[in-house]
Amino acid sequence: MSEPVHRQASGNNLDPWYGAYAARTAGLAASEVRALFAVASRPEVVSLAGGMPFVSALPEDLVTDAMSRVMREQGPVALQYGSGQGVEKLREQTLDVMALEGIQGSASDVVITTGSQHALELFSKLFIDPGDVVLAEGPSYVTAMVIFKSYQAEVNHVAMDDDGLIPEALREQIARLKADGKKIKFLYTIPTFHNPAGVTLSEARRSEILQIARENDILVLEDNPYGLLYFDQKPPAALRSLEQDGVVYLGTFSKTLAPGFRVGWALAPHAIREKLILANEAAILCPSSFSQLVISQYLDQADWKAQINTFRGVYKERKETMLSALGEYLPDLTWTNPTGGFYVWLTLPEGLDSKAMLPRAVKELVAYTPGTAFFADGDGHQNMRLSFCYPAPESIRVGIRRLATVINGELDLLNTFAGTGRLTSSKARGKFTAPPPNMS
Ligand SMILES: Cc1ncc(COP(=O)(O)O)c(C=O)c1O
Repeated sequence: MSEPVHRQASGNNLDPWYGAYAARTAGLAASEVRALFAVASRPEVVSLAGGMPFVSALPEDLVTDAMSRVMREQGPVALQYGSGQGVEKLREQTLDVMALEGIQGSASDVVITTGSQHALELFSKLFIDPGDVVLAEGPSYVTAMVIFKSYQAEVNHVAMDDDGLIPEALREQIARLKADGKKIKFLYTIPTFHNPAGVTLSEARRSEILQIARENDILVLEDNPYGLLYFDQKPPAALRSLEQDGVVYLGTFSKTLAPGFRVGWALAPHAIREKLILANEAAILCPSSFSQLVISQYLDQADWKAQINTFRGVYKERKETMLSALGEYLPDLTWTNPTGGFYVWLTLPEGLDSKAMLPRAVKELVAYTPGTAFFADGDGHQNMRLSFCYPAPESIRVGIRRLATVINGELDLLNTFAGTGRLTSSKARGKFTAPPPNMS
């Protein structure tokens, strides 16, 4: 039997269907984070790479109780298909969760999704045509950018500093793109405890950013998985609490409860909500009835706010351990100081490349995520994301000590071979979160 023509014409040694994929799959390359998970999962490696919540801090019996109660009392409903919008009671309960961040809304405007990742996918499907521009902080959440690119969007970064997205940079970027005739579809932002930068958009900037978006008819997609995981002070209220019509808000139970349930939600203005439901039905028929009912039961019977407090304590201790280890082992470098969430953004001395250095780090038994993973334009070589959410404090210290060995070794090499004395630490240059030099 002869081979199909297209296989001979456009296949390659690794994938005979290479030429058959849709053009939009060009952006679906395995992310650096994904490749890392395989390496970093070896037990001897201290992984500061992944963003896995420390689910062992959950009261296992309460989760088990919620599951058995659901099966006892609502088994046939839990095991059945449900509504494409999600379980009504759970949608109402998300309002209590969002109220903690100043958001008021109606359960009829909430759509339950399979994690907020799925909401990102549905939203992108609704709004992105090939060639559209999506604005995102530089750096930004890697797997959101993978989705945007899979819909053939052009991701344009807007610079940040320790107070989050810089309004002036946003204004300039919009003006430049408009002058180039580009169509800006939305601003994707993680204003609170940013992934990966670890910074939070200041209160003053929140209304300014919304004002700029309003003036330019740009929809805002607010992604907020970490907002309730503050260490001491509550962060400023969510963007959605300040503006309803121009903001689609994404929440999730992944970081405050557990990602294994795969339950998140979108709160959207009516018309968008309607389209999100249709897209949800088309994609998956309905979110998992079982997961939704278990979470709903858990929220009913457990002191979930106290549980979130426990998580806060766990992550605060880990963050403090990481920062004190950085101060001890890498005193000349700079890093962000998150007031909540999971991540620290580290800036390396000039001349070092976090991506090139990674294999040596893994050899030293420590893993991190290179900054390049978080830029659509190849920037970020001088940065890395360090996650403090998962490893125990003792491991975090060991990990940072190993990282220092790698960085100092690289510096020695560079000094030996370059010998130019041009090695200045980021601290010496007075730079902090290293916004990309080229914002386009
Ligand atoms: C900023 C951001 N958005 C979305 C997600 C996806 O979360 P979920 O588990 O709800 O799909 C993550 C997960 O790490 C994240 O950091």
